[in-house]
Amino acid sequence: MQIDLSGRKALVSGSSQGIGLAIATQLARAGAAVVVNGRTADKTETAAAQVRNDVPGAEVTAVAADLASSEGAEQLQAEVPDLDILVNNLGIFGAKPVLEVDDDEWRHYFEVNVLSAIRLIRMYLPGMTERGRGRVLNIASDSAIVTPVEMVHYGVTKTALLAVTRGYAKAAAGTGVTVNSVIAGPTHTPGVEDFVHELVGDDQEWDDAQRQFMREHRPYSLIQRLIEPPEIGNLVVYLSSDLASATTGGAVRVDGGYVDSILP
Ligand SMILES: NC(=O)c1ccc[n+]([C@@H]2O[C@H](COP(=O)([O-])OP(=O)(O)OC[C@H]3O[C@@H](n4cnc5c(N)ncnc54)[C@H](OP(=O)(O)O)[C@@H]3O)[C@@H](O)[C@H]2O)c1
Repeated sequence: MQIDLSGRKALVSGSSQGIGLAIATQLARAGAAVVVNGRTADKTETAAAQVRNDVPGAEVTAVAADLASSEGAEQLQAEVPDLDILVNNLGIFGAKPVLEVDDDEWRHYFEVNVLSAIRLIRMYLPGMTERGRGRVLNIASDSAIVTPVEMVHYGVTKTALLAVTRGYAKAAAGTGVTVNSVIAGPTHTPGVEDFVHELVGDDQEWDDAQRQFMREHRPYSLIQRLIEPPEIGNLVVYLSSDLASATTGGAVRVDGGYVDSILP
């Protein structure tokens, strides 16, 4: 199967590092013009330069905007009026006992992890349906299926994102536009690497450290290692392509088998 996204324009929200940056890079490798986003100009430009360096000839635009705000989303739309592929990757997470999460923090998680995606879908979906072509991908998490006791507020927002996906897929029914969630599992991002070393110490090679971490703290993972960010990007590239034309309204897993269930 050949995947060619040339002629397509893709935005990845929150892509100045981590999974978002890897998704943007994989989309660029497949030929898409990509828009990289973060809150600060410096970091976003640096990320765009990294994609250009990794994928010579790639068409990459950096847009610094806070996409958790309506002003930021409007600024983005002024700079990027149309998209073929919208990847709602932006998401925040952090451990906190659920009884200590107050109203303001619940609202903040909802604004960043759910409303940011809804707002961008509202902005870009009508253009896609008019053209009869487009892809929306919402990056969810294993925490959407198995609510983590140490970050219930995060899990709740990711569960909501699955319903958002299903709802907007229905709104796009019969148009040729697909809307899906990607359920990412524990992934090797800089934040997670620090977390692993905190838990298992930093006196071992990375590979041994992550395997100990997975054995002791993520025993349900079937690959028994962290996922590398480009592995998430690969699934996003496939779902962004014409080949995935019959997959919509669903949640597709790239979780290393971590969620111990047959569906989704
Ligand atoms: N890491 C994991 O193991 C894992 C597992 C499952 C799912 N996920 C999901 O995957 C996605 C990416 O996670 P990650 O670990 O790669 O995240 P990350 O390393 O924390 O990166 C977050 C990105 O979002 C940007 N950002 C934060 N707030 C923003 C805002 N208001 N507007 C625009 N950009 C903003 C950050 O850039 P600036 O700081 O420059 O603004 C950064 O580029 C999230 O949705 C997360 O829930 C992660």
